[in-house]
Amino acid sequence: MIIDVPLGPRAYPIHVAPGLLANAGPLLGPLAPRGRLALVTDTIVAALHLPAFTAGLAAAGLAVDEIILPPGEATKNWATLEHVTERLLQLGVERGDAVVALGGGVIGDLTGFAASILRRGCKFVQVPTTLLAQVDSSVGGKTAINAAAGKNLVGAFHQPALVLIDPDVLQTLPLRDLRAGYAEVVKYGLIGDAAFFAWCEANAAALLAGDAAAQAQAIAVSCRAKAAVVAADERETGDIRALLNLGHTFGHAFEAEAGFSDRLLHGEGVALGMALAFDLSATRGLCPAADAARVRAHLLDCGFTLSPQALGLAAPAATLLHHMRQDKKMSGGTLPFILARGIGQAFVARDVPLAEVGAFLEGVVAG
Ligand code: GLY
Repeated sequence: MIIDVPLGPRAYPIHVAPGLLANAGPLLGPLAPRGRLALVTDTIVAALHLPAFTAGLAAAGLAVDEIILPPGEATKNWATLEHVTERLLQLGVERGDAVVALGGGVIGDLTGFAASILRRGCKFVQVPTTLLAQVDSSVGGKTAINAAAGKNLVGAFHQPALVLIDPDVLQTLPLRDLRAGYAEVVKYGLIGDAAFFAWCEANAAALLAGDAAAQAQAIAVSCRAKAAVVAADERETGDIRALLNLGHTFGHAFEAEAGFSDRLLHGEGVALGMALAFDLSATRGLCPAADAARVRAHLLDCGFTLSPQALGLAAPAATLLHHMRQDKKMSGGTLPFILARGIGQAFVARDVPLAEVGAFLEGVVAG
């Protein structure tokens, strides 16, 4: 299956196919004019997938120069960016060459940012190996590293030249990471596709149990939705791409409280945040309480923990608000919140006073 991201001169295809990882040579050949590709990955992904990937490239006559990094969020830093960029220059990567990012969101974000600044911009290819990267971060060109002041605060919009998604790689993904990625899948239903949310309710158990057909369907629907959003609002200058932040502002506060550690994965924060966004929408009389309850019930069925107390993250509301104020979307002393009029009817609310959010959070953290 091929999903196009129609961005004029920056347009690119997303290929989704089981077994693609080991057969990527013919698709990557045109992006390797010198017959060599530089590839960035981490040690975990390298052990699982690099031999099959490079064998497929070798079969197409392509050589690979590997840059293998430590896994984890801490890799998305200035020092690693410098290391990767200098190494790419040593390897003689030219503007016309593509750099391959083989991994999850950390590898994709870091490699994409390195590609955006290398010789003022070279091509790159996303080969995402987590569900979260497959349905969200590999598509749309947001690239970044973390700064001392916060996550993803230094980066660039730089679209990939190609995205290759092999759903088979999810078979080796730990359940916790699969579930965290699934939060971003559900998000597309909650934002604008009530029928897809109903599909999620019916198919999440199979998807999380490893059902390949359910996983492929979720990836396809999610990538189509993301491609449409990115085509309509590439740089989030309007309200369309901002909808993809559903659950992220609340989630960010709890992720920050957890120190952006394994105590709360990004997708787990998004799941909690989406439940809270629907609760706040219901509290404001915007959304039927039954819809908010349905969202919460589905996320609980999937195994997400939606209680800050149970997560050990029931910080005072003032602390959570402080975390929210570090958000890069702060503007004029307030934040846009993605709220909903119902399942599949999200919208950007710019009129929510932070004091009201604080009062709401006091109730949330009090249980
Ligand atoms: N992950 C949100 C976006 O790509 O805009």
